[in-house]
Amino acid sequence: MMKINQPYIPMRTIMTPGPVEVDPRVLRAMGTPILGQFDPAFTNIMNEVMEMLKQVFKTKNRWAFPVDGTSRAGIEAVLASLIEKGDKVLIPIYGRFGHLLTEISERYGAEIHTLECPWGEVFEPKMIIEEIKKIRPKIVAIVHGETSTGCMQPLEEIGKACRELDTLLVVDAVASLGGTNVDVDGWFLDAVIGGTQKCLSAPSGMAPITYNERVEKVILSRKKVERGIATDKDLHTFAHRSIISNYFDLSQLQDYWSERRLNHHTEATSMIYALHEGLRLILEEGLEERFTRHKLHEQALANGIEAMGLKLFGNRQSKIPTVTCVTVPDGVDADIVRQQLLQEFGIEIAGSFGPLQGKIWRIGTMGHSCRKENVLFVLAGLEAVLIRQGVNVNRGEAVQAALDVYSKYAMTV
Ligand SMILES: Cc1ncc(COP(=O)(O)O)c(C=O)c1O
Repeated sequence: MMKINQPYIPMRTIMTPGPVEVDPRVLRAMGTPILGQFDPAFTNIMNEVMEMLKQVFKTKNRWAFPVDGTSRAGIEAVLASLIEKGDKVLIPIYGRFGHLLTEISERYGAEIHTLECPWGEVFEPKMIIEEIKKIRPKIVAIVHGETSTGCMQPLEEIGKACRELDTLLVVDAVASLGGTNVDVDGWFLDAVIGGTQKCLSAPSGMAPITYNERVEKVILSRKKVERGIATDKDLHTFAHRSIISNYFDLSQLQDYWSERRLNHHTEATSMIYALHEGLRLILEEGLEERFTRHKLHEQALANGIEAMGLKLFGNRQSKIPTVTCVTVPDGVDADIVRQQLLQEFGIEIAGSFGPLQGKIWRIGTMGHSCRKENVLFVLAGLEAVLIRQGVNVNRGEAVQAALDVYSKYAMTV
């Protein structure tokens, strides 16, 4: 018989912008027994997940539930359920994930309109609003926190304008939800997608979404009955649908998450346990307290990086607290530094994409990874590796600068 060893899983300090370290409570929750998906003990957990998600999204929307699959599954479910062939979709792009919105929308037949600004900047809301007035799109799809550049687009003005102009605003809040404010109702966001593997401190594999009645109206209008064979009860299984995807059909998914519990897919029980525990952790900590924690560690990290003599990438005014981008010094091989950090220290940081590949490192401060010991360790490790690469850094300054931030904060609480 072939003998296959158990895989070796090393201990890591994960400081990428996702996936991040999973809270031990989440891991424990995932190890609890499987329940059948219609078992009342399980559907009760589903109901609690919905209620907690509404609090984290800051919404009174009826619908807030996870789509099974990675974060792009949530994005695709929203876009697939809204876009009909030829619909105009406006996508302001300021990094890699704006391109993802474009690619998905294109696949569902949208007439795409894009706006672009340099990576490391965000849009002046007026620029987007002018474009909405000109194009009159059915949907504006935009990223809230661009993990590829560490920038965050203010959404409130755009949200208001979309509401006034009767455009649906779809927001990718994958990198921001649970780490910094995402005010779904206050900012007039119509559909919002988060990610479990970032600030929710759970593994990758689920995409929490929420959407309002404006979105639901469009989705339900696409639920057409063919040849009159479907009764209301059967509608779920027999109706002809104009939504192309079965897996991403939100009209079916919301039936499954409703009291009717109409069967769609087999629910990923252990991931629901994970999400439930991740959300419980957030609400126990308190949303505002959690945002303050993310800001604090971001500040310590950013000050440490600058004290070392390195430069932060991107417009600081538009920086997201959950991702810090660092310009790779001239003559340094970005990948070798990342490899050495991993090999020598067990620390993982990320590179970037497209025009920023090899030019910046991206360091996450997200969810359970966003802790003092992690920030101090990544600063110390990065400094040591850069010294070994012959870079002239300010030795010993980075950790001290971060410690200064922590002691200053300790005096205020
Ligand atoms: C802002 C943003 N949107 C979308 C995604 C896609 O998520 P996934 O890789 O989980 O499908 C990511 C992943 O890093 C992201 O950072």
